[in-house]
Amino acid sequence: MTTAEPKSSLPAASLESARRADTISQLNACLATMMDLAAAAKQAHWNVRGVAFRDLHKTFDTIASEAREWSDLLAERAVTLGGTAHGTIQDVATSTKLPQFPTDEHNSEKLIREVHSRVITAAEQLRSFAKGLDDELVTQDICIEIIRGLEMRAWMLDAHLGDQGAGSRP
Ligand SMILES: [Fe+2]
Repeated sequence: MTTAEPKSSLPAASLESARRADTISQLNACLATMMDLAAAAKQAHWNVRGVAFRDLHKTFDTIASEAREWSDLLAERAVTLGGTAHGTIQDVATSTKLPQFPTDEHNSEKLIREVHSRVITAAEQLRSFAKGLDDELVTQDICIEIIRGLEMRAWMLDAHLGDQGAGSRP
């Protein structure tokens, strides 16, 4: 009679502890960037001015809402894997990949470019993370879902600029 291996109650039980810890750490790194993106999009939502105000005001708010939903996915995956979600403002300020947002900017075109570049940066961070997740497909799937949404938003922001596109397409 053989003795069965003890089974962990955690999802992704096949992950070695070091891989699990690294995955949780990278989820938190992406969480910080995503929460920063939500705040940046809100900043643009509140301060944008110009002829396309109505549309941009709504678009920036949509991006903020999506970024908060994506933050939730990343945070809850970190906890599902047995980790801790690090989502305080202080954690975000320490770990985000995004540069400081220009707080006194009101110009619609400049705000589009500022948000667009941050959407691209967030997508690149997630894409890099996802490439190393062949052993953790559920987390990889979450990343891919978020990247798909970010790239769609990058396209839509870029389209606002017409022939003067942001020049950094996904
Ligand atoms: Fe609002």
